[in-house]
Amino acid sequence: METFFLTTAIDYVNGRPHLGHAYEKILADVIARYQRSLKKDVFFLTGVDEHGQKVQQSARAQGVSPASFCDEMSGYFRDAWRTLNITHDRFVRTTEVSHKDAVRASLQKLHDKGEIYFQEHTGFYSLRQEQFVTEKDRVDGQWPEIYGDVVETKEPNYFFKLSKYQGWLISFLNDNPDFIYPSFRRNELLSALEKPLNDLCISRPKSRLEWGIPLPFDDGYVTYVWFDALLNYATFAGWGTEQNSWPADLQIIGKDILIPAHGVYWTIMLHALDLPLPRKMLVHGWWQMDGEKMSKSTGKSVDPLALVTQYGADAFRYYVMREMVVGQDADFSVEQFEQRYKSDLGNDLGNLVNRSISMAHRYCGGIVPDAPIHSDIAVQIQSTLAEYREKMDRYEIHQALERVWRLTRRANQFVEEQAPWKLAKDSSQSAKLAQVLATLLETVRVLAILAAPILPDTTAKINVQLGLGAASFNMDQVEGAASLAGTSLGQPEPLFPRL
Ligand code: ME8
Ligand code: MG
Repeated sequence: METFFLTTAIDYVNGRPHLGHAYEKILADVIARYQRSLKKDVFFLTGVDEHGQKVQQSARAQGVSPASFCDEMSGYFRDAWRTLNITHDRFVRTTEVSHKDAVRASLQKLHDKGEIYFQEHTGFYSLRQEQFVTEKDRVDGQWPEIYGDVVETKEPNYFFKLSKYQGWLISFLNDNPDFIYPSFRRNELLSALEKPLNDLCISRPKSRLEWGIPLPFDDGYVTYVWFDALLNYATFAGWGTEQNSWPADLQIIGKDILIPAHGVYWTIMLHALDLPLPRKMLVHGWWQMDGEKMSKSTGKSVDPLALVTQYGADAFRYYVMREMVVGQDADFSVEQFEQRYKSDLGNDLGNLVNRSISMAHRYCGGIVPDAPIHSDIAVQIQSTLAEYREKMDRYEIHQALERVWRLTRRANQFVEEQAPWKLAKDSSQSAKLAQVLATLLETVRVLAILAAPILPDTTAKINVQLGLGAASFNMDQVEGAASLAGTSLGQPEPLFPRL
């Protein structure tokens, strides 16, 4: 069986999950479900990033230990992903013993290879980004807002020889133009690499930071949180054991953590550890509100779970997948959310399913008639499937959805054109009526397969209404399935009730 291994960023637990976190996990989940519908053996990894200064500070501010703070906070992420129907196979917590052991083993290996050295260092440190910054990061003499408070520190530390791999990384990116999606992000990374790289400080003295993984070769220090966090992708994939899934086929991250974290540190760490690189990195944009980034640090955020409680997980999943062009930024608007709920979900999909099932009960006793599919719609189904596959394979989820909704609206238009309520009054039109109903029900069946990765609850309900049970169906059943003819339909139930 073909395998597909995908990862998301692991979220900092210093605040509750927000829309940006939720979007990324939904995007990964949609891809995971789509890959499963292609009958691949999927391994989907997500989780939380628990070490580091921010977490230590947040725990202190609440007067609790970092460990119990992490236990509580990681629970909010786990619960949120359950509510949103995220189907990860493994939930990472970087405080797990097996991860800590594997990080220490990696550090020891790099140390043994001479990739790590010890040096006195004076520098500027950004708390918000958990990284050292240098004079060249200033813009017009000021530290850009993304760094938050920047403090000057002078302390000896351990450094990883990043700079010696700069040439290798540039060649790798040039030789692998599809490594980063969208490609303009690869260009940004290549431009950043026009300046010389500094070596990476990978230690923090325990006097300043206790909440981290002690270095195996000096227990006066803990590991820099990014060095620990990035390794999760390999350590939780069973790297070093017989059940190893590394390298990932796809790593999904936000644009703020491509440069330098994933694009520079992670690629070079893997290379220095003699590990293969992931096949692809998908870099998504930011959700904004009124043009500003939403994040814990700026205090601007939407509570995704509040909307989910009101409208259901599927409506939320649909909105974020439909509204954001993968790779670009998008603006979150509650009005737009409500509009899509009403029109796309209620008037288009909900209405089509409801009227198709209702009419089949009214006009043919709730049994799917044995009749050929109308050729117009049959052609539409074919082209929708081909374009949907192409868009989904390229991670252009919004366009795949756009295509699926074109078919949905076409089917609603078909109802108006054919006016089954008129055909039903004329007994000479019974074959035509049977064809219209069979065509609508077949379209609904296909839509339920195509929309399943995005709307898992709704499409399960549609399958029940079609008399097929709540099972989910594979992509090859769009074309290859037995006809619905003779199936006893379930009862029509509104899928997206007006609120
Ligand atoms: O960076 N819109 O964690 P994090 C879209 N622990 N995505 C957003 C977003 C927004 N407004 N805000 C955040 C970290 N994200 C590290 C990652 S990986 C080994 C370690 C995305 O909680 C962000 O881009 O700050 C990132 O991909 C993820 O949420 C976690 O962000
Ligand atoms: Mg962040």
